[in-house]
Amino acid sequence: MPMTPWLRRAAIPLAGPLLLAGCDFAGLQSTLDPAGPIAQAQLDLFMWSYWLSWIVIVAVFGVLAYVLLRFRRRASDPDRIPSQFHGSTKLEIGLTIIPVVIVILVAVPTVRTIWETEVRVVPEEGDVIVNVTGYQWWWRFEYPEHGVVTANEMHIPVDRRVIVNLESADVLHAFWVPRLAGKRDLIPNQNNQLWFSADETGEYYGQCAELCLGAHAYMKFRVHVVEDERFDAWVDAFEAPSALPASDDPRVQRGRDLFATKGCSTCHTIQDYRGEVPVGSSDFPNLTNFGLRTSLAAGVVDNTQENLETWLRDPQIFKPGNYMPKVWREDDPDADEEIAAVAAYLLSLGSDAEELAFASGGTDDVQAFRAAATGGDDGDR
Ligand code: CUA
Repeated sequence: MPMTPWLRRAAIPLAGPLLLAGCDFAGLQSTLDPAGPIAQAQLDLFMWSYWLSWIVIVAVFGVLAYVLLRFRRRASDPDRIPSQFHGSTKLEIGLTIIPVVIVILVAVPTVRTIWETEVRVVPEEGDVIVNVTGYQWWWRFEYPEHGVVTANEMHIPVDRRVIVNLESADVLHAFWVPRLAGKRDLIPNQNNQLWFSADETGEYYGQCAELCLGAHAYMKFRVHVVEDERFDAWVDAFEAPSALPASDDPRVQRGRDLFATKGCSTCHTIQDYRGEVPVGSSDFPNLTNFGLRTSLAAGVVDNTQENLETWLRDPQIFKPGNYMPKVWREDDPDADEEIAAVAAYLLSLGSDAEELAFASGGTDDVQAFRAAATGGDDGDR
């Protein structure tokens, strides 16, 4: 059935709200679903401006509708011209004061929120500091107080202030975890700072919000907000990776050897159960305790054996444009077996660490953790 002309005309303004209705306000990256005080303050400011805009819209269109109806041309008196009020002093003053009041109503809360949330802060006792470096197209997270270096997944304790120092190793990036805080740029040679806290535990999705070429859209990351004890357990797992039990799976042992001989360790650093720090470079993702990560390729896919094998076979499949080379030739007869072994080794790294440390009381006491992790046997592995 063809649309009647009025229906077609009405469909255009209706389409906008209907399309908006398709948005998920409680999505994983929704600023409308804040989980921390900074994001909440930013949302409150947004909603204040939003409802203020509605008052303006209703007033303007209300007056317009009234004028159009009240002074419309009437068949009974087609030549009538409504009385003119050009030069009315009262109206001129009114139309000057009202916008000034509106600007003040927007500006005062905006400036106040900026001062409350955006100023540079000095770290205090109890704050968690994370040095974040952006690379094309992944994230380096360093915890200077704990000596932890990891990539693409940040762990932070709930209800604690987190101060992130932002730097870039190459081009501009922007750090953005929509449910926790507004975005901030990472600029080479400029230390930017952002601080926030989370008031609910959970997994939060982050995204680079500054076009950084190539795989920009795939430059994601995750923030795991956990209870204090779990955070301590996570840190412990990094402080003593050599305390973690080695898997007895021969495939894992083979994967470890391949990691060195296939050239993986030229770029990637791993501290594992043997405690060695293979050469690696800090300019590539540090894979220590890789098995603790829930995602792969900077938040692009879940960290599973199958996905990891696909990633190792051809890193361009999940993340076109990234700089990870293809290590195995397609006609390499050993490729399947070797890739499976390296994936198994990587997934074994730290896989039970958090639970082990948590079960041991989750303290900073590395010795206690080591004893728990090795079942009291601290001998050579
Ligand atoms: Cu980094 Cu976009």
